[in-house]
Amino acid sequence: MQLASNTVLITGGASGIGFALAERFLRAGSEVIICGRREEKLAEARAKHPGLKTRVCDLAKETQRAALHKWVTNEFPRLNVLVNNAGIQRRVQLPEDLKWKPTHEEIAINLEAPVHLSALFIPHLKKQAHPAIMNVTSGLSFAPMANVPIYCATKAALHSFTLSLRHQLSPTPIRVIEIIPPAVNTDLGGPGLHTFGLPVEEFVNAVMVGLQEGSPEIAYGYSQRASRASRAELDEIFQRMNQVAH
Ligand SMILES: NC(=O)c1ccc[n+]([C@@H]2O[C@H](COP(=O)([O-])OP(=O)(O)OC[C@H]3O[C@@H](n4cnc5c(N)ncnc54)[C@H](OP(=O)(O)O)[C@@H]3O)[C@@H](O)[C@H]2O)c1
Repeated sequence: MQLASNTVLITGGASGIGFALAERFLRAGSEVIICGRREEKLAEARAKHPGLKTRVCDLAKETQRAALHKWVTNEFPRLNVLVNNAGIQRRVQLPEDLKWKPTHEEIAINLEAPVHLSALFIPHLKKQAHPAIMNVTSGLSFAPMANVPIYCATKAALHSFTLSLRHQLSPTPIRVIEIIPPAVNTDLGGPGLHTFGLPVEEFVNAVMVGLQEGSPEIAYGYSQRASRASRAELDEIFQRMNQVAH
């Protein structure tokens, strides 16, 4: 895809992978709108890039997703790219930690929101030039890390939904792209909990190359291996990742 002249909405775009994508699209000459729950993170992002447009929004809430759609399509009628990037990751010890409210919130942010936003934005995107939906899944969509079980289930489901969405939208102009990060050093799960993994810039470099080349699935390093692995290889990855005694 061309990186210039788009109008891009990136959910969770004030930090981590979403913010790095926002910077790249801005630098390439696109207009970028980001949203998130914390106004102070959005303000920090605006301070670095005064051109960024921001909106406070809690995507766990259906009414706020609908309000975001209404505001964005009114204010930015040329919006042609939706990036479903926002996500949370909770460490959960089953069954003690399986309290429904936080469990549902994780499912709502990671899975309900991208499905709902896709449904809301498709009629608008269909009428735009070069429309695209990008869903950020994970290398953990293919083999789960058992200490983040709800997270992995939502990412496996989002991967599956993305395949069906791409298939069903193939007669329309909307391109459906899956971004599949490996472990990347961000604030995922809370500051200081995800300090392992690749530098964000390295991963986002690979994403921008994949976008320019027109790849429908963009993975890198571990996630490239996992997304192409056989069932036997995935079983082996699962065993290796979950060796820790519990
Ligand atoms: N880092 C990794 O190793 C890795 C690996 C695979 C996949 N991913 C995926 O990459 C995406 C970005 O994560 P990241 O690693 O860049 O972590 P991050 O810096 O924590 O980014 C997540 C963003 O989502 C926003 N968000 C969370 N809940 C939200 C809600 N209810 N409504 C609106 N925005 C919400 C957060 O902002 P607020 O808190 O202000 O709302 C934050 O800006 C996620 O989907 C994640 O699952 C990351």
